[in-house]
Order: sequence, then structure tokens, then C-alpha cells
Amino acid sequence: MNKHTFLITILIICLFISINSDAQSDIPSVDITNYPQEAKEGYKIFSQKCIKCHSAAKPLNAPYSGEAWKTTVYRMMRKEGSFVTQKEADKIYAFLVQYSSSRKPVQAVETKGLSPIDAGKKVYQQRGCAACHIISGLGGKVGPDLTAIGKTRNTEFLYKWLKNPQAVKPATIMPNLNLTDKEIKPLVEYLTNLK
Ligand code: HEC
Ligand code: HEC
Repeated sequence: MNKHTFLITILIICLFISINSDAQSDIPSVDITNYPQEAKEGYKIFSQKCIKCHSAAKPLNAPYSGEAWKTTVYRMMRKEGSFVTQKEADKIYAFLVQYSSSRKPVQAVETKGLSPIDAGKKVYQQRGCAACHIISGLGGKVGPDLTAIGKTRNTEFLYKWLKNPQAVKPATIMPNLNLTDKEIKPLVEYLTNLK
């Protein structure tokens, strides 16, 4: 090997290492030592398949726990190019349920001292509703536009819906965010005033 090829070889090796470590750096380090077997396997599959379209932080920081994971994991499974099988989705689900139960619970949004509508707005922002809904042009398109939700839905519907969407419509993909009554009341106030 002459000096030239040697240097090029070194360069290629360095490049390879840097690309590889880039891919690795996105994989979350989660202590799975005490997880059940199914959840352990789920973590492995999660680290390979749930980071292809977005960072692992998206699911790991999502405010879901327990059953609420089911709708999102199955929805991701059905996304084109996910290459996640039903069996794998069940394991990923097991991992996420375990993971979310072992991290500290989602804190209820603090709304003391705010007017009901401002409090509702704050809950809306902090609970990630805008990831899936648009209000006045801003937000995601997974769920319906809520810009004028106060025209079509009354307090009673909104309260029931936000308390537990699956109780109103079992097949809905909106996750149950386990909101407290203290969060739901101002949120309903805010939404019914959007007209
Ligand atoms: C083929 C691409 C793709 C793959 C693979 C994928 N996602 Fe997603 N994911 C998306 C897109 C696009 C969005 C944003 C729009 C949406 O919510 O549909 C998203 C949004 C999300 C959200 C936020 C929205 C919500 O429903 O809460 C979570 C959580 C999530 N993904 C979890 C996962 C998990 C867990 C996996 C692995 C099973 C996964 N994703 C794999 C494309 C993907
Ligand atoms: C992961 C995406 C997602 C998140 C997060 C989410 N939603 Fe939804 N939401 C949906 C989808 C999808 C629907 C449509 C459900 C259906 O009809 O099956 C929906 C429906 C609704 C409806 C009923 C609309 C109607 O007229 O039927 C309201 C109100 C609503 N969401 C409010 C909220 C609020 C407030 C939050 C935050 C606390 C929130 N959503 C978080 C996806 C989401």
C-alpha cells in the first residue's frame, strides 16, 4: 500500500465512523433492565423503526400513557414506508406503555390567576393539541380544524370528548390525554368561544 492509498483508506474509515455515530446518536438511552421481555424487544424495534421519519424524542416526550399509546402506534404502523408489522407494533406498544409509566407523570398545567379563556389557551398549547389541530391557520392536520369549533360543538360534547374521546367514538385516533377536570373546564371555555 503506498502512502496515498493509505491516507484515502484512513479517510474512508473516518467518514464511515462519523456517519455511523450520527445514526447512533439519535437512539435514546433508556434503562430497560427491569422491563418485561416483550417491552425489551419492543425497545429494540422502536430504536430501529420509530426514528426513520422523526426523532425518537417525538414519541418519548409525547404526553401519553397506557392505552392511549395504542392509537398512535397503530397509526404509525400504517404509515407508508414504516415497515412495522402488527407483531412489532404490539411490542413497541408494550415498550411505550412501560416507558411512560416509569417516567414522571405529566404535570397538570398550572392555570392559577388566569381568566378561563387564557387558561384554556395555555392548556391547549402545553398539552400539544396543536400537533394535530389547526386554530387560525396554525397547527397540524391530523385532526379537524378547530378555528370555529364553538359553532358546531357545545360545552357538553366538548367536555365528554376531552375527558375520553374513545368513550364518545371508540374508533377515533385522537388519544386520550388524561386531562384533569381543572384542565378540561377552561379548555372547553376557550374552545366554545372560537366562532
Ligand atoms: C413512515 C414515517 C413514520 C414512521 C416510521 C413513524 N412515524 Fe411517527 N409520525 C410520522 C409523521 C409524518 C408524524 C406527524 C403527522 C402525524 O401525526 O401523522 C408522526 C407523528 C408521531 C407522533 C406525534 C403525533 C401523535 O399521534 O401523537 C408520535 C407520538 C409518533 N409519531 C410516534 C411514532 C412511533 C411510536 C413510531 C414507531 C412505531 C413512529 N412514530 C414511526 C411519521 C412516521
Ligand atoms: C394525535 C393527534 C391529536 C391530538 C394530540 C389531539 N387531537 Fe383532537 N382530534 C384528533 C383527531 C384525529 C380527531 C377527529 C376524531 C374523529 O372524528 O375520529 C380529533 C377530534 C377533536 C375534537 C372534536 C372535533 C369535532 O367536531 O368532532 C376536538 C374538540 C378536539 N379534537 C380537541 C383537541 C384538544 C383540545 C386537544 C389537546 C388537549 C386535542 N384535540 C389533541 C387528533 C388529535
